[in-house]
Amino acid sequence: MLTDRRPRVSIAHLPTPLEPLPRLTALLRGPQLWVKRDDQTGLATGGNKARKLEFLVAEALAQRADTLVTCGAAQSNHARQTAAAAARFGLACTLVLRGHPPAQAQGNLLLDGLLGAEILWAEDAPLAERMEEVAASLRARGRRPYVVPYGGSNPVGVCGYVAAMEELLAQAAREGLSFDYIVLASSSGGTQAGLAVAARALGYPGRILGVSVDLPADALRQRMAELANATADYLSLPLAFTLEDFVVEDGYLGGGYGVIGDREREAIRLLARTEGLLLDPVYTGRAFGGLMDLIRRGVFSPQERVLFWHTGGVAGLFAYPTLE
Ligand SMILES: Cc1ncc(COP(=O)(O)O)c(C=O)c1O
Repeated sequence: MLTDRRPRVSIAHLPTPLEPLPRLTALLRGPQLWVKRDDQTGLATGGNKARKLEFLVAEALAQRADTLVTCGAAQSNHARQTAAAAARFGLACTLVLRGHPPAQAQGNLLLDGLLGAEILWAEDAPLAERMEEVAASLRARGRRPYVVPYGGSNPVGVCGYVAAMEELLAQAAREGLSFDYIVLASSSGGTQAGLAVAARALGYPGRILGVSVDLPADALRQRMAELANATADYLSLPLAFTLEDFVVEDGYLGGGYGVIGDREREAIRLLARTEGLLLDPVYTGRAFGGLMDLIRRGVFSPQERVLFWHTGGVAGLFAYPTLE
């Protein structure tokens, strides 16, 4: 495997299932829709961060860290899975979350507390800066923090999705399948960057389309190119990426990060009611809503096979009681 020489611990339930969506495919009259179930990676209700954390926690343990420190939004799935990984490996966890504490902890935030994480609020300070201050103060007190970057997106974390793409291609080959498109939600860019590195290294001929959840397309494409180059270096792969190598759709940002609109609501309900499959409000709901719009606009032919990479986040549903 491309990532074989990098330290890794076992956290996620792998391989995640690869499933067809026959009822939805019929309803939309194609394309042939499939889903890669990374909402089923385990680790306190699943999601894409379990794969990144296999490599990040391995590095933390190699550095003899005693605390994982990370940051995110109040409903960060990444923060929740980092808290769970810390608990699993007997490490402490400090989460620096954006903004101010809500009146009631729900969804991911409720789980962060259950998982034993210390929660600090950045209030009006920039998130990454506040996180570095917190790490410095832990160090000053004799602790050994390991800082997991926003979204787990550095070359170490991105290895999780290099390995994931290898997993998918092996799984598809075993089942005699190939996918013309892979569609996913993109935010900090690590997931898509990892898929792109493995796709290039292994000669995947299809297209990978990221639906941006919060950033304008070019800013995200630039970030992905940097991450992909750094990851290729880290894995000693002779590959170079530019912004042109990444396809990002930023037409579905709606009211902004975490704001649910009609598109997200429709996608979440439709998947639930036609396939019994849960999407999350912030990431996969937005990405699938975008995919449905692209389907309706005729971007795909009915025979093409499109894989939706479900990146998890379902715990976030329980923080949006007005969804129904
Ligand atoms: C459920 C879910 N999907 C997608 C993403 C986006 O992944 P990435 O940050 O690697 O682009 C995230 C990360 O924040 C997430 O929690």
